[in-house]
Amino acid sequence: MTNSIDQRIENVRKGIMKRASAMKEKVKKQGFAFKPFSVKQKQVLTWWCPNSPVKDKDGIIADGAIRSGKTLCMSLSYVLWAMESFNQQNFGMAGKTIGSFRRNVLFWLKMMLASRGYSVVDHRSDNLIVVSKGTTTNYFYIFGGKDERSQDLIQGITLAGMFFDEVALMPESFVNQATGRCSVTGSKFWFNCNPDNPRHWFKVNWVDKCKEKNIIYLHFTMDDNLSLSEKIKERYRSMYVGVFFKRYILGLWCVAEGLVYSMFSEERHVKKEHMTGALTYVVSVDYGTVNPFSAGLWAFDGWHSQREAEVYYNSREVGKRVDDEEYYKMLKKLIGNRRVECIIVDPSATSFIEVIKKYNEYSVMGANNDVLDGIRVVTTMLNKDMISVHEDCEDNIKEYGLYVWDEEKGDDVVIKENDHSMDDTRYYCYTFLRRRLRWRY
Ligand SMILES: Nc1ncnc2c1ncn2[C@@H]1O[C@H](COP(=O)(O)OP(=O)(O)OP(=O)(O)O)[C@@H](O)[C@H]1O
Ligand SMILES: [Mg+2]
Repeated sequence: MTNSIDQRIENVRKGIMKRASAMKEKVKKQGFAFKPFSVKQKQVLTWWCPNSPVKDKDGIIADGAIRSGKTLCMSLSYVLWAMESFNQQNFGMAGKTIGSFRRNVLFWLKMMLASRGYSVVDHRSDNLIVVSKGTTTNYFYIFGGKDERSQDLIQGITLAGMFFDEVALMPESFVNQATGRCSVTGSKFWFNCNPDNPRHWFKVNWVDKCKEKNIIYLHFTMDDNLSLSEKIKERYRSMYVGVFFKRYILGLWCVAEGLVYSMFSEERHVKKEHMTGALTYVVSVDYGTVNPFSAGLWAFDGWHSQREAEVYYNSREVGKRVDDEEYYKMLKKLIGNRRVECIIVDPSATSFIEVIKKYNEYSVMGANNDVLDGIRVVTTMLNKDMISVHEDCEDNIKEYGLYVWDEEKGDDVVIKENDHSMDDTRYYCYTFLRRRLRWRY
């Protein structure tokens, strides 16, 4: 039964992937279908033109909501500016990684340029894009802000411009390094990003200093992308809550404060009944010896998940530390005679992972421990009532009421107390559920 649900999900996923790749092929053949540009997009596209009053500015920053049309107009404007202003020069273009830049920016950029009569040759092994039209040829090198090799490579190059897509996801050292390479007269910097914490280095050192740095600043919202329908905008709005709504939908640089899961409500999320029907079981574990050990047993019906039971062992409270073999026995008791698909474990708990492997009774995997992305996914799932908790899981319910952001820190960090059951919940949602529901989520 479970297998047939999985099979159905897999078939639908395959169908969607097939349609997506057919659409990409169609787009490739027919060229990029532009929708009318919004006023903000037009500003990004024209600020450098000879009759623009701000043509002498040294760069542009566009920040704001997701899907608001920043990348599309900025990447195009950047290359058009380079081709109109220079010949035989080197330019830099960067994403968080080279891979993400190729996926999110370059695929569309190549098509937009081709539809405007530019010849674009991609030298993949050198991450070099050669763009030509008439007698003008320029060279665009792709870098990944987080790729170590890019940090080395950018050191020796002289650039006439630098475009950073998703700059807030890059290390400041890379951005300083790259902007420092722009020594050609007339060179300009181009940045876009979604907002983060107001104490983020990009907000403090660039957005807040745009006047003194002689850089234009533009703020985008989803209404600045005329290609989005109301229905799609509504779908994006419903995906984010709390600090993520403020940042990704309102486009504000704001502090993560108060309860991390303020959307958790006992009325909505705590259930008296266990789930029934065809279910897949998964266990998620946050490991601790001095700190508490927390494990949740999750039931999943293909859409909804419920934490049905848990183990929460606090050696400090009990006054006795136990070893990995003991923890393994606790897991076995938690699982009983259910068939679990896998046990997802805190990736740093290598010794415990080895013990689970040794007995060869369950399949085990290390959790993806990307805290902020994981928290974002849990907030969405709570908001959409996709996860619930059985009333017996008292430690989990208690932690929802205690898990808070650390407002003292400049970065988005949570106070590392009362976070064990929250961590194993995050492992389940981010490592298992997100993957399973990717096509619908
Ligand atoms: N004028 C337009 N014509 C056609 N499609 C557009 C236009 N402007 C934006 N889009 C499409 O809207 C979507 C979002 O645009 P874009 O990627 O530029 O947004 P973004 O602000 O960079 O989003 P994010 O913050 O999520 O990276 C893309 O699929 C893009 O192709
Ligand atoms: Mg973008």
